[in-house]
Amino acid sequence: MNFENLPRRVKRRASGYLFGLLKQATITFASPPMIEGYWPKIANAGTMTFGNRCIFSSARMRHLISAGKNAVLEIGHHAFLNDGVNICATQSITIGNFVKIADMVSIFDSDFHPVAPDQPVRQKPVIIGDNVWIGANSIILAGVRIGNHAVIAANSVVNTDVPAKSVVAGTPARLVKTFDAPDGWVRGG
Ligand SMILES: CC(C)(COP(=O)(O)OP(=O)(O)OC[C@H]1O[C@@H](n2cnc3c(N)ncnc32)[C@H](O)[C@@H]1OP(=O)(O)O)[C@@H](O)C(=O)NCCC(=O)NCCS
Repeated sequence: MNFENLPRRVKRRASGYLFGLLKQATITFASPPMIEGYWPKIANAGTMTFGNRCIFSSARMRHLISAGKNAVLEIGHHAFLNDGVNICATQSITIGNFVKIADMVSIFDSDFHPVAPDQPVRQKPVIIGDNVWIGANSIILAGVRIGNHAVIAANSVVNTDVPAKSVVAGTPARLVKTFDAPDGWVRGG
């Protein structure tokens, strides 16, 4: 039997199940993720939790997901990560349920380097609400909180909090609109 010829959903479940078996000592899973393409590169010296039915898709480029010593990274249920996502927790990153993270997005809770000799490295938790959609190539910086249902337009650099049910865009990201959505709404697609 050729693994490549199996249906996509079977391949991603099988790949995720194997990944879950091998990584269960270091990561807490509500259920094994579904993996399409390359396995994520995981570096966990802290606590890492993945919710139910997360999908990691990486046809071109691996995800890099790390939690440093004593850091906590929580990814909620039904998260979708597209190609080459980079999530680095040095303190705390919390990602809600049904969050869609597009290609090449980076999420950092630390700047990692000081700006000047008398300036400490900025390091602050990141909190991303439920049903947030983060557009391709965006960067979420330390200390940012993103409200439920918010949309981060492609190529945005987010350095301040984003209200729930809003769209922000640009560098630095600015509010471009707000919209209505019932609390339990899950974005399709
Ligand atoms: C944000 C987005 C979803 C459009 O949302 P929308 O509600 O239809 O918004 P509009 O197109 O009406 O744009 C609203 C304003 O934001 C601006 N805007 C939208 N996307 C922008 C972006 N990526 N960067 C800068 N400005 C942007 C528009 O120019 C417009 O500005 P204006 O009011 O001055 O004319 C879309 O532009 C986007 O970025 N999609 C991400 C796609 C993606 O990354 N997909 C990956 C696969 S998951």
